[in-house]
Amino acid sequence: MKEEICKVVAEILGLSDSEITILIETPPDSKMGDMAIPCFGFAKLLHKNPALIATEIKKGLDQKKNQLGLDEVLSVNGYCNIFVNRMLFTEKVLKQVVKENLGVEKIGNNKTVCMDYSSPNIAKNFHVGHLRTTVIGNALYKIHEKLGYKVIRINHLGDWGTQFGKLIVAYKKWSSKEEVEKKGIQELLDIYVKFNNEKEEHPELMDEARDWFVKMEHGDEEALSIWEWFKDISIVEFERVYDMLGISFDSYTGESFYREKVPALVELLKEKKLLIESQGANVIDLSDYNMPPCMITKKDGSSIYHSRDIAAVLYRKEKYNFDKCLYVTGLEQSLHFKQVFKAIELMGYDFYKELVHVPYGLVSLDGEKLSTRTGNIIYAEDILKEAIKRAEDLIEEKNPSLDNKEEVAKQVGIGAVIFHDLFNQRIKNINFSWKEVLSFDGTTGPYVQYTYARAKSILRKYGKEIQYEVTDYQALIDDISFAIIKTIGGYEKAVSSAAESYEPSVVARYMINLCSDFNKFYQECPILKEKNEKKKEAKLQLVNITAKIISEGCGLLGMECPEEM
Ligand code: ARG
Repeated sequence: MKEEICKVVAEILGLSDSEITILIETPPDSKMGDMAIPCFGFAKLLHKNPALIATEIKKGLDQKKNQLGLDEVLSVNGYCNIFVNRMLFTEKVLKQVVKENLGVEKIGNNKTVCMDYSSPNIAKNFHVGHLRTTVIGNALYKIHEKLGYKVIRINHLGDWGTQFGKLIVAYKKWSSKEEVEKKGIQELLDIYVKFNNEKEEHPELMDEARDWFVKMEHGDEEALSIWEWFKDISIVEFERVYDMLGISFDSYTGESFYREKVPALVELLKEKKLLIESQGANVIDLSDYNMPPCMITKKDGSSIYHSRDIAAVLYRKEKYNFDKCLYVTGLEQSLHFKQVFKAIELMGYDFYKELVHVPYGLVSLDGEKLSTRTGNIIYAEDILKEAIKRAEDLIEEKNPSLDNKEEVAKQVGIGAVIFHDLFNQRIKNINFSWKEVLSFDGTTGPYVQYTYARAKSILRKYGKEIQYEVTDYQALIDDISFAIIKTIGGYEKAVSSAAESYEPSVVARYMINLCSDFNKFYQECPILKEKNEKKKEAKLQLVNITAKIISEGCGLLGMECPEEM
């Protein structure tokens, strides 16, 4: 509807649709209209005063009121305030949302999207940073799936690289089979930190580490079996986190898989005359593009993060024939992906255009950067467990007689962590603080879940079956009910723009708006006490639809909604 109005206004003023779209706003108070166009911005452009422009828009819209479904258009102090016809609007929105898929069109047409996310490094702990890519990636997967895309979920494990050379040296010097078996990743992490400290004083350790990695690259049996063992131990720990989050992947094909493809890549790059030698290493020169060279093989001939990623693009294109391939990683990897994508372009592959880096901001711990090397870390598993425990305490305090407390605490604790990760625009840095993550009011997951439980409780109390189709639109056009209707009308747009901008926060924020509209409705409109049966039923139908959208929306974010809490 907004789009149609923008089009007409653009015609009236002789401007482009987009010039109108960015200015159109939703007044905070619905008494000022459902939409408003401030005309001050057009004054310079059109050499007219804002009041005059507002009047012109009003006149133009007045002529098309019926066609556009408007009730009234006012020109007030340089603003054009637009009131929609509530009956028509309500009917349109509610008829749409009761359709299959909540009326969300499957614009994806089964196109394939590869999503590379989570991708932790083996032998290192799964920390809050990885939690972020996991949660953002999972939400993008659910959102795209809802829109009818075919998504391939790829966990590009960091299971290859010089760090494993270091780890083998450290293991042989300072650890044992028993210790590793007993303490798992924690032991690997401890000896890794020890290695990094020791190498300051004993630089020869680095040579040993490099030798071990070269052995791995050449298929040395001992090196590979230790590495394989570290990998198995790590995956078991990662899967504990994925299980808690209810997340799975279609492929765990990580870096080690691609190292074998690098020699063929080297040949291909030579053929294409893209490879040059630089201090013994093989690189692609990117100076024309203001980037440092993209290394393909190191002096000792071994593969590197970049070349393994280039090989992975070619492999994925061949295997999945993707229409798009997304990489959800920290912002600090931007240059890496620019180099990789440029290499694909220079190789002459048009599909470089389909590669998208989806960066997210840093996660800090009370202002300090997290780093495995220094040991400043919070582990994802600990966060999730702690969140569940705190949710348990809260339920014990608020609703001790709740039936399935354990299950609900899990849903609420995990929901809190997920929502905290998704609510802010992904590019923003977030500071992790227990207090904030686990706060059960404000713009949080538990607030959304609580709103759902509230809606379900009304429906339970009513006792009789409620259908989705609304039978009396007239009952829902008062200010407070209509506010919900307007938000419901924005659901499809929220889902599609979240996909377009790879930004799950759009859905998370939408959920907060919907819940806040609903809670106002709950507090101010008598629902079960409504005397008029027909009206009451319509209100309950609205409650039912709202609950369904909340639970679907939570699903898109990767959260579950308990029926009671
Ligand atoms: N393992 C890397 C890390 O922990 C992320 C890998 C991202 N995916 C990729 N294809 N490079 O930072």
